[in-house]
Amino acid sequence: MKRLVLASRNKHKIEELRDLLRPLGIDLLSALDFPELEEVVEDKDTLEGNALKKARYVSAMTGLPAVSDDTGLEVDALAGAPGVYSARYAGEDATYGDNVRKLLSEMDGKSNRRARFRTAVALVHDSLEEVFEGICPGQIIREEKGDKGFGYDPVFMPEGYERTFAELDSEVKNRISHRGRAIQKLIEYLK
Ligand code: IMP
Repeated sequence: MKRLVLASRNKHKIEELRDLLRPLGIDLLSALDFPELEEVVEDKDTLEGNALKKARYVSAMTGLPAVSDDTGLEVDALAGAPGVYSARYAGEDATYGDNVRKLLSEMDGKSNRRARFRTAVALVHDSLEEVFEGICPGQIIREEKGDKGFGYDPVFMPEGYERTFAELDSEVKNRISHRGRAIQKLIEYLK
């Protein structure tokens, strides 16, 4: 397996995974290299389902092994919400800011702040289908802190740290994050 396609157009995710796969002699392509690829609707009710759906489509279209990821934030006091719906928690066209504001308002007055990010990374090629899971436990703080990262980073403080993901350097975040952990499992498998 020398070439792999990442089912994403997110330049940040592509560069991050490309750097990790280079030492393994794997050339990472992405959806940017295949303009004919359509946007896959993430309509499954699990992270694994969405990740597999995207990877199956991209592998079938390109004939190459494909990798895809889907992430959700699970908050205990909200019965696991927003979970698989994290990207559109405040509505179909919600911005990151809208979603964070909705989360803080739903958490108003709640003392149990426990939450976790969960990522499913799927690898698909012909009859091969593997899913790797990464989890990062932490808590939802009461107001936004930090301006790095994206999404829910300003209100998520990972366990063992006194800073939010939005205050930590990307190198630290990538090492301990849900996505980083799932990708490490993928890399171990590819090795
Ligand atoms: P996706 O599966 O990477 O598209 O992530 C779905 C949604 O989860 C995003 O729209 C973000 O709101 C949120 N999300 C994913 N990864 C992170 C992260 O590392 N930090 C904060 N929010 C994230």
